[in-house]
Amino acid sequence: MRGGRARLAVLVSGRGTNLQAILDATRAADYPAEVVVVVSDRPGAYALERARQAGVPAHVVPWSRDPADFGRRLAEVLDAHQAQWVCLAGFLRILPPEFVQRYRGRILNIHPSLLPAFGGRGMYGERVHQAVLASGAVESGCTVHFVTEDVDAGPVVAQARVPVLPDDTVETLAARVAEQEHRLYPEAIRRVVTGQVRFDDLAAAEQLAR
Ligand code: GRF
Repeated sequence: MRGGRARLAVLVSGRGTNLQAILDATRAADYPAEVVVVVSDRPGAYALERARQAGVPAHVVPWSRDPADFGRRLAEVLDAHQAQWVCLAGFLRILPPEFVQRYRGRILNIHPSLLPAFGGRGMYGERVHQAVLASGAVESGCTVHFVTEDVDAGPVVAQARVPVLPDDTVETLAARVAEQEHRLYPEAIRRVVTGQVRFDDLAAAEQLAR
């Protein structure tokens, strides 16, 4: 690929199974991206350990009361590693608008539902699966989307569907969705970094559909 592999920063807050799926994908010689830095807002995140085990620089940038300040400190770390793309993988903070604008069209997130259903502020982790079960939906899944200033509402890159079974608990549904997340995220990253899917095209199509 011209210019080498795309340089990814992965932002995490927790256990990092999606980070692991991305790291595993990058081991294939023909995968078009590499993880150049992992950043957590929480020092205890197990995802940091996964980064270290894979030989990838791992940094903690503690959350700040001033989100713009957090955004600036985060951008400094990303710049130091010449990151081109930002992948949120279980990152639990809402990025400040200045940061989102600076990386416009270059930030991806994965969400454990079929957006726009069961998304938005406060909809993360188990709460998503609880809400899906409570709604009586017969289907759920996961979504990779571009990050914009509107939480969980940026253009959709890819989705995967799973059935919701009658005897499902939050745990069984979460596990079924997670399996799809780990397949979907590396594939969505591939499509975006190779230019098969472009933010501007998706944003323009959504504008037309409105
Ligand atoms: C995933 O369900 C993801 O969709 C959501 O947070 C969870 C992160 O899990 N954004 P992990 O830290 O990647 O294991």
